[in-house]
Amino acid sequence: MTELLPVGGRAAWDRESLREDDWLVRLPPVRPDADGPPRAYDGSRAYDRSDAYDRSDAGGRSDAGGRSRAYGPSGACGRDADRQALAEAAAGVDRRLREGPGFAVVRGIGLEGRDDDDCVELARWFGGLLGTLRPYDGPADGLVTAGARAGRTAASPGRERDDRALPPHMDRSPQREPPRVLGLLCVHPAASGGESTLVSGAAVHDRLLAERPTALLRQLYRPVHFGRGADFDRYFPVFRRPTDEPGALEVRYNRHHIERGQREAGIPLSAAYLAALDAFDAVLADPRMVLRVPLRRGDFLLVCNKAVLHGRTAFTDPAEPDKHRCLVRIWAD
Ligand SMILES: [Fe+2]
Repeated sequence: MTELLPVGGRAAWDRESLREDDWLVRLPPVRPDADGPPRAYDGSRAYDRSDAYDRSDAGGRSDAGGRSRAYGPSGACGRDADRQALAEAAAGVDRRLREGPGFAVVRGIGLEGRDDDDCVELARWFGGLLGTLRPYDGPADGLVTAGARAGRTAASPGRERDDRALPPHMDRSPQREPPRVLGLLCVHPAASGGESTLVSGAAVHDRLLAERPTALLRQLYRPVHFGRGADFDRYFPVFRRPTDEPGALEVRYNRHHIERGQREAGIPLSAAYLAALDAFDAVLADPRMVLRVPLRRGDFLLVCNKAVLHGRTAFTDPAEPDKHRCLVRIWAD
């Protein structure tokens, strides 16, 4: 039987071991000449990857308002100056996702004057710099609200729209594989609460290895159903050591989906497996394991969805409906 080893390193962080610089990427203030003439670009890798935006979006969302989808060198002027700053920040975000704590927050994106569609487009454009976007399937897709924009969300029954806390989890998607990258651009924060919560899957793994019987942790290396049904089989272990990345760990956790998936498959979870899930949840409940980030307007949280679990605290919305908590969500691989 293979020995279980700790992950350690930068991926296995807790609240105390992280410094803000490990995850926060501040954009420079918009320059006074932001409305000046187009600037020359240096053909950086970040801009080369903007091709991914156009390819993955083909056949999807129309180009509302006649805006260009091409954000290459010739498109850089006016408020697109902050697109340049974002493009320059992309490499730092990518490095934090792949080699650092597995998440990053880009702070200081100018959203003044942008409507919801602009915010969605901006978020998807930046997601395209980090990977290949998951398909886009509706004019209001990508907006995550709590009912504030009821007219837009009513057509999307799957959209989250309550104000309760969400425990740390991995995002699942209509495709079989969970997306590698989750992005949440904060358009409006809540009046109070609604902080993003982040937990290192590697740190949970290593705590269980250090504090619990090995047999319990081994349970979580066994696959379970995260979803079941026509075209929706999702059968994964909670922890997996990818063979092509020595030392790395993937975590896929969503207790609600596991319990429902097993039930729908007609396979009750064993007592040993339930004990392992309880132990996992007990670690998640330790506030020392959880980083809480109150996202500000213009903050863009990017998370490696196979390494870091995300959730949010309960929140209260302000009175004005158009100021209710609102995020743009993107998924990319
Ligand atoms: Fe989520």
